[in-house]
Amino acid sequence: MGYYKTHVFCCTNERPVGHERGCCKEKGSDKLRSYMKVRVKELGLDAVRVNTSGCLDRCELGPTMVIYPEGVWYTYKSPADVDEIISRHLQKGERVERLLLPDVNIPEK
Ligand code: FES
Repeated sequence: MGYYKTHVFCCTNERPVGHERGCCKEKGSDKLRSYMKVRVKELGLDAVRVNTSGCLDRCELGPTMVIYPEGVWYTYKSPADVDEIISRHLQKGERVERLLLPDVNIPEK
């Protein structure tokens, strides 16, 4: 078996409460990443690796994830969002337009 062909990086960075940029962890990224990891395994997607990531510098739009090798960025708020990313992006090679982050969007700090 070869190594993974697709890597999903889910930011689970945590910042102190009240930080001006917020963080993905306070928006539930830990649980959603764990859910995604379990679902990918249950579905037998052996070529996909779901990883925990530090800050991806798009905090205000989080929780954020980026999928390589495509370099596609998503925001996701619920297990249903994760399910849609798995079924459409990872299984069918499509894009989930409603969850896509724009190419340039980092607000002024
Ligand atoms: S805290 Fe998740 S992108 Fe920065």
